[in-house]
Amino acid sequence: MTLKLWRHARIATMSGDQPWGWIERGALLAEGERIAWVGAERDIPRDAQPQQEIDLQGALVTPGLIDAHTHLVYGGDRAAEFEQRLQGASYEEIAQRGGGIASTVAATRAASDDVLFASAQRRARTLMAEGVTTIEIKSGYGLSEQHEARCLAVARRLGNELPLSVRTTSLAAHALPKEYAGRADDYIDAACRWLAAQHARGLVDAVDAFCDTIGFTSAQTRRIFDAARALGLPVKLHAEQLSNQHGAALAAEYGALSCDHLEHLDAQGIAAMRASGTVAMLLPGAYYFLRETKLPPITELRTAGVPIAIATDHNPGSSPALSLLLMLNMACTLFRLTPEEAFAGVTVHAACALGLNDRGRLAPGLRADLALWDVEHPRELAYRFGVNPCRQRIFGGPP
Ligand code: NIG
Ligand code: FE
Repeated sequence: MTLKLWRHARIATMSGDQPWGWIERGALLAEGERIAWVGAERDIPRDAQPQQEIDLQGALVTPGLIDAHTHLVYGGDRAAEFEQRLQGASYEEIAQRGGGIASTVAATRAASDDVLFASAQRRARTLMAEGVTTIEIKSGYGLSEQHEARCLAVARRLGNELPLSVRTTSLAAHALPKEYAGRADDYIDAACRWLAAQHARGLVDAVDAFCDTIGFTSAQTRRIFDAARALGLPVKLHAEQLSNQHGAALAAEYGALSCDHLEHLDAQGIAAMRASGTVAMLLPGAYYFLRETKLPPITELRTAGVPIAIATDHNPGSSPALSLLLMLNMACTLFRLTPEEAFAGVTVHAACALGLNDRGRLAPGLRADLALWDVEHPRELAYRFGVNPCRQRIFGGPP
């Protein structure tokens, strides 16, 4: 296995007791796809005999970024709906009129596998250019057995064909398709059956639902979660985005990996998430793009010690963002996170939100997924916006 050494680096390991897990003049050794050693340059193990040695001349090294909430696979766009919203229509009104998610479902069903793959691949590459090495991709724009499985298969194919880890999430309970109008409970029955088939084909890593007035009730969400539990699949939830349905407490009861959005989260929900170790996934792109005014309860989450993650929530309706760096800036400016909290949100806490303990930090034994940056200090990654200082992305060690 190739042993490779990067030296003369500033390193934010996001691990240990120092702020940022900081190492001022550091080095990192990777063996194959794992980190063999990381520390101060003067402490490089004497017996290490790397085949390759790179002088980074002071560049910043961080864990590869993790975008742990995306809806990357879909057809069409919703730019016309954006114009309608600018003229006064609300996101909920557009959804109730049959636009919104339903219009993306129609465009997704009409697209061929290759078109879906090509557009999702372009989006994934845009994220990767900013140092992203792991992404989560949800289904939820197919809403039939065939089309949900197709979208999950496209997501899996992205993970197989790109130098990128892809985690898939089944989100059939995203919206009610028109074939099931007035029969939401029948739809949930069907979605639970599809889940077993998707799981049998190895297409699903986790299960999500949209628990809200324009989504599904908490009783319907519970049925989806029971189906997931029966298959041994972890759950997460679009919770408390537009209203408080007490979804976070419900998800916590099922040991959810994360609850996402959370603008309307209450004290009970926070306590339940804390008790279950559920990550609070904040999505500043959707908050911004829907011009929300109710902030998620950041101070309370912080005080309770609930880990906070940040993601793009990339989707055509509420967050057409393809920059995790911009989300860092928004998490600070809109949500008042510190740059270090925001960065933990796209590394160590994002890994927790995906149930992955082999990445998100730089430590021996973990994956050598790295981002190299032309900045002096990681707080600059949250400070600037509209620029991309990523010099290089390393996925799973050498080259
Ligand atoms: O995460 N809240 C539900 N789902 C997406 C938006 C979906 C859409 O509008 O297409 C979200 O914001
Ligand atoms: Fe989402």
